[in-house]
Amino acid sequence: MKNLLDIVSDLIETAKKHEQYRAKECINMIASEGIKSPAVCQMLDMSHDLATRYAEGENNSEGHVKKRFYQGQKYVSKIEDHATDAIKKLFQATWADVRLISGTHANTATFKGLAIASKSNKMIVTPLSCGAHISHDYTGLAGSILGLDNINHVYDVDEFNIDPDKSAQVIRSAKPGIVTFGGSLFLFPHPIRELREVCDEVGAYVAYDAAHVLGLIAGHQFQDPIREGADFITASTHKTFPGPQGGVIMGIPDTAAKEKAVRKIQHAVFPLTASSTHLGRLPALGIACLEMQVFGQELAAQVVKNAQSAGQYLYENGIKVIAEHKGFTKSHQLALDVRSFGGGNKIAQDLEDANIILNKNLLPYDDQSDKENPAGLRVGFQDVTRHGMREGDIKHLCDLIINVIKDKRSPEQVKVDVMALKKEFSHVKYGFQSVDEALSYVKH
Ligand SMILES: Cc1ncc(COP(=O)(O)O)c(C=O)c1O
Repeated sequence: MKNLLDIVSDLIETAKKHEQYRAKECINMIASEGIKSPAVCQMLDMSHDLATRYAEGENNSEGHVKKRFYQGQKYVSKIEDHATDAIKKLFQATWADVRLISGTHANTATFKGLAIASKSNKMIVTPLSCGAHISHDYTGLAGSILGLDNINHVYDVDEFNIDPDKSAQVIRSAKPGIVTFGGSLFLFPHPIRELREVCDEVGAYVAYDAAHVLGLIAGHQFQDPIREGADFITASTHKTFPGPQGGVIMGIPDTAAKEKAVRKIQHAVFPLTASSTHLGRLPALGIACLEMQVFGQELAAQVVKNAQSAGQYLYENGIKVIAEHKGFTKSHQLALDVRSFGGGNKIAQDLEDANIILNKNLLPYDDQSDKENPAGLRVGFQDVTRHGMREGDIKHLCDLIINVIKDKRSPEQVKVDVMALKKEFSHVKYGFQSVDEALSYVKH
């Protein structure tokens, strides 16, 4: 092994190279990654002391700090309360918890809290093969760590969605404590409204995982889970929502059952699963909330428009885009089936060689045991949109993608055009350029 000096020197150089590569030279289309504005980045830079502090404690029924176990908290507690209130305001919730350091952490605390509150270990989830996140599944967090007993929603592969009638039957007969919605391959709004009543019949809590679509929800696109019947939303704050990496849980606990759930979830956050809550992200999270209030609707609408127009263009050019009969998508993502061009693994690699970064993805009808070579690609449009691309630019980008998929030009040739396109779209739009700009917006 190298000595520590060489390791650290290499580490610093590699980190610099990464910043240059992914931020300046690549077009990023991973559907689960977000893009922060200069103001959010600057606020993170201004929060270094905060990022070294601890703030263990308990929160009240509004999500505000009730009790601290450490000294030196006079500003920390205000900061946490303000970040909590910013989330509550933006999403019209009456309770939120911002202490989660990721979406998986938000799911951990929520699933655990709801299992305790409902005194049930049964949780209905979207099948992993149909887009659920691993944290929902019996092979992941839900089953292997929390010991929950997963029962699948019935999924209609043609509709690319949960089948509400058949899932209602499953819920009625299983009588779960928790019914979940939301996912990682997530093209169409899930039928919360249609299933809320049957969840009430069996006394199940409804948890909606908005990790992917939180920014779309903030921008009034896709769906409005709380108003449609979800008791709680869990999410990452860094995918379509353009904040710092972190997690959040929120809801409107307007019944005794939901108040009890909040207490159990809070207990599952602290002391069960958190100690350091990575406080340095909280002021930046507040700025991202303001950005979404100001620019969110325009941004989210353009993200969805770009994804849909890419779906249409790729489809017209001979690429199998999933759910053509439904307009391809209502979210920031597309799912492509590239089996006839060599499969998801090969094409994702070829695109990487052309500096277009996305991921291979199992599709519901794939052999689920062949994870290394699925038919699918998942493509996200939130990053290119925030960099200012509109439908015409998206067509140009799709031409480059088609060049690679159809092997019309080598990835190395396409890369030259990709890097030129990236240069053209190097500024982050739909956000504030500095903390001062955010402040001056606030002040008038
Ligand atoms: C639906 C869903 N939930 C939760 C997560 C986990 O979020 P995080 O990466 O913030 O832990 C993801 C990650 O992509 C996801 O897709």
